[in-house]
Amino acid sequence: MADSKSTEEECAVQRVNILREEILEHNYNYYVLDAPSVPDAEYDRLMRELSELESRFPKLIISESPTQRVGAKALESFSQITHKIPMLSLDNAFDESEFRAFDKRLREKLSVVNIEYAAETKLDGLAVSLLYENGKLVQAATRGDGSRGEDVTANVRTIKAIPLQFKGSVFPETLEVRGEVFIGRKEFALLNKEQAERGEKLYANPRNTAAGSLRQLDPGLTARRRLNFYAYSAPFERESMRLADTHTGILDALRELGLPVSPETRTLQGVEQCLGYYADIGQRRSSLEYDIDGVVYKVNTLAQQDLLGFVSRAPRWAIAWKFPPEEELTVVNNIEIQVGRTGALTPVARLAPVFVGGVTVTNATLHNEDEVRRKDVRVGDTVIIRRAGDVIPEVVSVVMEKRAKNTKAFSMPDTCPVCQSKTERPEGETVVRCPAGLFCPAQAVQAVIHFASRRAMDIDGLGDKLIEQLFASSLIQNVADLYSLETSHLQNLERMAEKSAANLLAALETSKSTELQRFLYALGIREVGEATARALSQHFGELDKIACATESELEEVEDVGPVVARNIRAFFSEQHNRTVIERLLEQGIHWNEIVLTKSPGTLKGKTFVLTGTLESMSRDEAKSILQALGAKVSGSVSSKTTYLVAGESSGSKLTKAENLGVSVLNEEELKALIEAD
Ligand code: IVH
Repeated sequence: MADSKSTEEECAVQRVNILREEILEHNYNYYVLDAPSVPDAEYDRLMRELSELESRFPKLIISESPTQRVGAKALESFSQITHKIPMLSLDNAFDESEFRAFDKRLREKLSVVNIEYAAETKLDGLAVSLLYENGKLVQAATRGDGSRGEDVTANVRTIKAIPLQFKGSVFPETLEVRGEVFIGRKEFALLNKEQAERGEKLYANPRNTAAGSLRQLDPGLTARRRLNFYAYSAPFERESMRLADTHTGILDALRELGLPVSPETRTLQGVEQCLGYYADIGQRRSSLEYDIDGVVYKVNTLAQQDLLGFVSRAPRWAIAWKFPPEEELTVVNNIEIQVGRTGALTPVARLAPVFVGGVTVTNATLHNEDEVRRKDVRVGDTVIIRRAGDVIPEVVSVVMEKRAKNTKAFSMPDTCPVCQSKTERPEGETVVRCPAGLFCPAQAVQAVIHFASRRAMDIDGLGDKLIEQLFASSLIQNVADLYSLETSHLQNLERMAEKSAANLLAALETSKSTELQRFLYALGIREVGEATARALSQHFGELDKIACATESELEEVEDVGPVVARNIRAFFSEQHNRTVIERLLEQGIHWNEIVLTKSPGTLKGKTFVLTGTLESMSRDEAKSILQALGAKVSGSVSSKTTYLVAGESSGSKLTKAENLGVSVLNEEELKALIEAD
């Protein structure tokens, strides 16, 4: 009779194997296919069960078990490893002509008219080499000087994206895999959030953090840094050992073995497709989940690679085409304070001009007092500036080693730099404000800029610079003065020709015919955005009623809470605001009466999306009409869309609506619906 202990152990052996296989499969789905197959909680449960069984039956522990990623002890130092095949670097191209020259050189050498390339992103991390023997990860090394690197096996084992063992049962006896270890942007942000919570110094950028993390002597620390990995090559000592005869073939084989490969990898024919790839990736660069600093093109056919060979430390068959850097160093020449429309004081760093992210940057916002203090940015400091995609340039951090001795910590002024009023910083808020409202010239200018903007009064041709000029030459003091402007006033202004003066006056005239919701929004009441302005105008129907409403009456309006209600009351209680409004109305600003929809019409609550060009009205007009009838107007088609209104030359939205089975209306049908409502 088998004793119960050994039966239990036999069951455990079976269960442990099943668990390991399941976990391996989930890892593969997550890291290689980018298609998670179980919720995190279920994955954690499997891991827990496995580790419980392993601690009850320690004999069952093997080093490839997913529980064995973090070893027990820290290292004293890293030992050196000699690379059997040197780890090379890549030649660079910095513009189209350099890339074309590379392609031409290769075509001539190979005597072909067209080259097939494997295109990849150039990940901004650090290169590692992984050695697998009999399908098991036995060694990992950094690139080092290319011939000798450091043994970082214990650390690399903690990277979940790197399999400790291959998937399946067919693989070469030994295989070296090379790729890039990096930290994704989300993971980097999370790491910095944790640092901030612990009151510790923030990491400057993902690349350095990835490099630093891989060189921790304590693998436990590496494990906490959420490193990731993409494989990009498998070098072979002999031709006969190759996994495939093209580079992309090798990458496919690596994927099959369970190694993650960048999903952006493509096979391309010739230069033109390469240019397209560069443009496409460049455009999507800032929305990728990780930092890249360029794209890499490799001759795809290995036989052609062999013919081309190497020059010194780089292969002739590959090139990295770099993007303009997204981070650069520069010097803070000054920190100035900008006063916004609502009186918020924003510190702005004036920088020595620097080319970053494809443009020359001279300013970067420092957001607020707390932010400047946290980063401790000072005049004279050398700072890292980042500009990714279309986002506003920002100061990432100060290079402390370069700080001069006599710098002074920055502090926000106690008085407004424009009107000298004493500033305020309410308890619990991050913003320092000038309380002077429209008496502060800076706020007055911003108020006019807002009033004239497209979604407010839409005064064509009245830009920021012109508004500043009008203030500077005392032609206006507030928005009401705009409508008293005459040709004779404007002609004396710099760069104002007769024609543009006439155009501006005409635009002012046109703007007088508006909508209550636009006018309300244009007034610039704090926290009354377009949506609130619309809700107010629909609820009350008349400006007077809004101006006289009590806070509790205002709070009856959808989305209006106590703070907004208080702001609205405060605005209309100011005599100077009431005077400005009266003058505006006297000068002829008017809008159509709003018919309050007492009983909801059929369009109430329906969701519309407008696309293409409409003939009898602009999309903005159609939007206002629909909203006045209680319909919602959204920017993108989804299954919640009731109708897509398709004008002339409708594009992808129309296709999407058709795919989702959303009803599509033409302009006539839309008008009929509106009239019937
Ligand atoms: S291939 C012989 N492919 O760039 C080819 N490298 O400048 C050697 N890198 O040390 C590398 N993404 O750290 C290759 N898709 C990619 C890459 C890539 C990033 C890094 C790698 C290498 C450096 C060379």
